[in-house]
Amino acid sequence: APESIRSICCIGAGYVGGPTCAIIAHKCPEITVTVVDKNPIRIAQWNSDKLPIYEPGLQEIVMKCRGKNLFYSTNVEEGVVNADLIFISVNTPTKTYGAGKGRAADLTHVESCARIIAGCASGYKVVVEKSTVPVRAAASISEIFGANSPAASNFQVLSNPEFLAEGTAVADLLNPDRVLIGGSQTPAGLEAIALLTAVYSHWVAPERIVTMNTWSSELSKLVSNAFLAQRVSSINAVSAICEATGADISEVAEAVGRDSRIGSKFLQASVGFGGSCFQKDILNLVYVSECLNLPEVAQYWMQVIVMNDFQKSRFAKKIVSRLFNTISNKAIAVFGFAFKKNTGDTRESPAISVCAHLLEEGARLNIYDPKVETEQILSDLCHPGVCALPRERIENLVTTHADPHSAAANTHAIVVLTEWDEFKTLDYEKMIKSMLRPAWVFDGRKILDHERLMDLGFYTECIGHRYQRPQFYDHCNGHAPELLFSEKSKAFRAS
Ligand code: UDX
Ligand code: UDX
Ligand code: ADP
Repeated sequence: APESIRSICCIGAGYVGGPTCAIIAHKCPEITVTVVDKNPIRIAQWNSDKLPIYEPGLQEIVMKCRGKNLFYSTNVEEGVVNADLIFISVNTPTKTYGAGKGRAADLTHVESCARIIAGCASGYKVVVEKSTVPVRAAASISEIFGANSPAASNFQVLSNPEFLAEGTAVADLLNPDRVLIGGSQTPAGLEAIALLTAVYSHWVAPERIVTMNTWSSELSKLVSNAFLAQRVSSINAVSAICEATGADISEVAEAVGRDSRIGSKFLQASVGFGGSCFQKDILNLVYVSECLNLPEVAQYWMQVIVMNDFQKSRFAKKIVSRLFNTISNKAIAVFGFAFKKNTGDTRESPAISVCAHLLEEGARLNIYDPKVETEQILSDLCHPGVCALPRERIENLVTTHADPHSAAANTHAIVVLTEWDEFKTLDYEKMIKSMLRPAWVFDGRKILDHERLMDLGFYTECIGHRYQRPQFYDHCNGHAPELLFSEKSKAFRAS
């Protein structure tokens, strides 16, 4: 083994590999970092002025390091041959075929990386899995090495799952709660762990670097995401109770979160969680539990996804019901399509299923998102299995807009699906004048000032809180409510 790592290659220039390597290059000037990807378009974007992913602070760091000790290339073999340490950071989607379909992680890309490494590398290599993988994946990678490479005894496989969240990737990488490194607890394994630890030690305090056996490390990543998603599903389950009673989910979350055993983070009720990890990792955990003949454990975690699906469809159904049970041919403005704010990523975004539901009911959608491109929105909505309508019909019904005012003009409702800060400060007074009446706001993220919206004349619905309105309203079921103004504005008009 070398005394220290001088050269790192990362296979996979995506949401995980891209930002991670930029930070390593930034913090470790003496290490050469090469990010390789088989997708030439991605690599060209990393080498251009417009990076393929948007993360606050990332552009500056990439520009500072690129060409010095940070390189992007499509030559995977060359990257592997020249590196002391190789990150495998490729995507591991849910399997769409065969055994474990819809549940198990598809390890095709991870396996193909292992075969490429086995085929071309010689000498000592630390191979680090960064992709979230099922428990025992590191063992499979080692097995591929053992069966394929004469030099395999020189390869050490580690698990080093990444916990960054999108939209805060740079901050999370610079100041992680913990860095987790799993490896075999043999002298050679511990030596490899020490080499990777030394890389992170450039900027992470030693007490934050946690080492353990490989399987614990792999499982910890799945469980962390399952716990986080479970908190969102738990608060969302309670949000449904709030909407049916006088309770307010923000007040409940505040009270519950004050218990230091529970904590206040990740208790924001929403239209549902999205992102590339939560659903995939829970399905993976469910599959692992089923394979281990633990059906009760599988069902327990599956319920987190059932609740998330319920939340998304509950919200979409409420929109239809409030618009008098018919939205066919009605225009509706959609604010936000990304799965959360500060990212252009739409993977598993709750916006996809809510929009698909509205489209199936015949609505015309004016979609505005500050970071998501039109092509992405259309490709998500036209993806097989998402929406029952044919592509031409979807393309007919969907219009994307470059600003929220033009999206809202001549619509019956504004539907907020992503919690972008800019939605809080829009000129709703101006906006309502361009809308049809009654003008509705459906706030799927509970970020707007609903008292003020009602004063402006909006009718509003929001996740986790029912705003004051005449009693008959909930029984009107399809009939136009005559009056829906807040107490404040009624008093104002009377004066
Ligand atoms: C609980 C709540 O903590 C308290 O806030 C509320 O007012 C009443 O209910 P209590 O039942 O007295 O208090 O004890 P608690 O410490 O919460 O433990 C409850 C059970 O959970 C015990 O059987 C305990 O052994 C178990 N437990 C707790 C675990 O198995 N694992 C844990 O990590 C914590
Ligand atoms: C998550 C984990 O946070 C991260 O540690 C892991 O490495 C990858 O998966 P990410 O998916 O990027 O990160 O975003 P996250 O902030 O966790 O949000 C996931 C989803 O949950 C989003 O749709 C978000 O809007 C939703 N969410 C989050 C809520 O609805 N309420 C909350 O309180 C928190
Ligand atoms: P993540 O969110 O896990 O980072 P992404 O999909 O954003 O996932 O990125 C994964 C990247 O890995 C993609 O750019 C893909 O082209 C790349 N990739 C997948 N398989 C291979 C492979 N065998 N060789 C090189 N790159 C690969």
